[in-house]
Amino acid sequence: MYNGIENITICDHPLIKHKLSVVRQTTTGTNEFRTIIEEIAMMIGYEALKGLELKYEEIETPVEKAVCPFIAGKKQAIVPILRAGLGMVNGMLRLMPAAKVGHIGIYRDEETLEPHEYFCKLPSNIDQRAIYVVDPMLATGGSAVEAINFIKQHGGKDIYFLCIVAAPQGLEKLHAAHPDVKIFVGNLDRCLNEKGYICPGLGDCGDRIFGTK
Ligand code: PRP
Ligand code: URA
Repeated sequence: MYNGIENITICDHPLIKHKLSVVRQTTTGTNEFRTIIEEIAMMIGYEALKGLELKYEEIETPVEKAVCPFIAGKKQAIVPILRAGLGMVNGMLRLMPAAKVGHIGIYRDEETLEPHEYFCKLPSNIDQRAIYVVDPMLATGGSAVEAINFIKQHGGKDIYFLCIVAAPQGLEKLHAAHPDVKIFVGNLDRCLNEKGYICPGLGDCGDRIFGTK
């Protein structure tokens, strides 16, 4: 819960904070950056999956029969916002290997900061799935709002948004546009600068994951 809002969780975990400090550093290279982004994604995913439904089945342990909980098996979809969201997919798949993966391509115009969509492919039966939209950076919030608008237009209802770093204005914008979406944030950073970068942030996450620029 954040500022009394049920649907916002700031993970605020020392392991995430430590790993985030490593990826924030300019001296961290592409390989280590990618690995740590995947690890942080798994930790945020662990938090986001706390509400998974369980079903009970009778099993036999070496000692006795017992009625034990198993994941109930609601269909799931992981939807990264390209490109940087791809860096979180493997971490999420480690937690839910049977999930289907969709893709939404959105880039932010460097001058206007407006989001532009260029690709979309969602798994079938999206209306019946728990949908985990992943993008490491929630800056102005424009890309996340646009991606979720699109998913809702295609019937998505049970939607989660997971990011590694958020700026306060992006978080507010996303929650205002989609109050039903359950938002999980690794760390809430201080602000955006005049170029729309999160401060202190970690720079251009897509470029750092893929070694471009
Ligand atoms: C980054 C990031 C988000 C977006 C966040 O993507 O991965 O998608 O910016 O900014 P916003 O909240 O202000 O919309 P970018 O446009 O740099 O594309 P890339 O991942 O392909 O580098
Ligand atoms: N996108 C990024 O990759 N980094 C920021 O700080 C803001 C948007």
